[in-house]
Amino acid sequence: LLSFSLLGLAVAAASSAQARDYDNVRIGVDVPYEPMEFRTAEGELTGFDIDLGNELCDRMGVTCEWVEQEWDGIIPGLMSRNYDAIMSSMTINDERREQVLFSDPYITMPSAWFAASDLGISEATKETLDGMTIGVQRGTLQDNYVTDNFSDVADISRYSTADDMVLDMEAERLDIVFLDFPIGQSTLLESEDGDYVVVGERISEPKEYFGDGFGIAFRQRDEALAEKFNEALAEVQEDGTYDEIYNRYFGE
Ligand code: ARG
Repeated sequence: LLSFSLLGLAVAAASSAQARDYDNVRIGVDVPYEPMEFRTAEGELTGFDIDLGNELCDRMGVTCEWVEQEWDGIIPGLMSRNYDAIMSSMTINDERREQVLFSDPYITMPSAWFAASDLGISEATKETLDGMTIGVQRGTLQDNYVTDNFSDVADISRYSTADDMVLDMEAERLDIVFLDFPIGQSTLLESEDGDYVVVGERISEPKEYFGDGFGIAFRQRDEALAEKFNEALAEVQEDGTYDEIYNRYFGE
């Protein structure tokens, strides 16, 4: 009898937690980061993360509310409960795993160097970047990588938003930027205000910096919420919805 009623209590506790936690899921995102999260000319929030996130929420039967937050404060905002999840092209890596719980990876993207075509270098090394000004978004893995490997030879400009960095590139205040590849592709390679190229190979090693793909981040104790997202993700991957969303932004 005792164990039976304890079970009943546990079930009651679990279902009320479910209602409380999952009716409306607030998701933190740093915009713009085209094509992952940005606004259309009409001001509508869109992008791969937004479409996939909305689809996952539909599958879970919850409503989603996107909460904009600059990258620099995006993990602190999760901790202080401004939102319950982060879906913002966040790379899964060991340093962040100490602070947050990640979903399964939902996409993998390399990083790359982007510069004006007349910069005239074909590779980014300590020698070729000597004396140059490098742009990165503050607090990204790209910031960590550039800070650790190029601070002794180059000047590093750190930006709160990827947009400000692209503007400074177009204003020729930067020589080169280091970014998640598709963002440089959508903003610089497709820019009408300059002629930009990828410098060298796309980079995804070492893992210590470049991590294990993009994941949705949760507070450590929100395992049940992470599990629900993982189940929904598996479902959309299974039934082709994922591919449909992928092709919307990355298809030819
Ligand atoms: N993938 C990089 C990282 O995890 C940069 C992500 C920046 N995301 C954004 N929406 N601004 O560090």
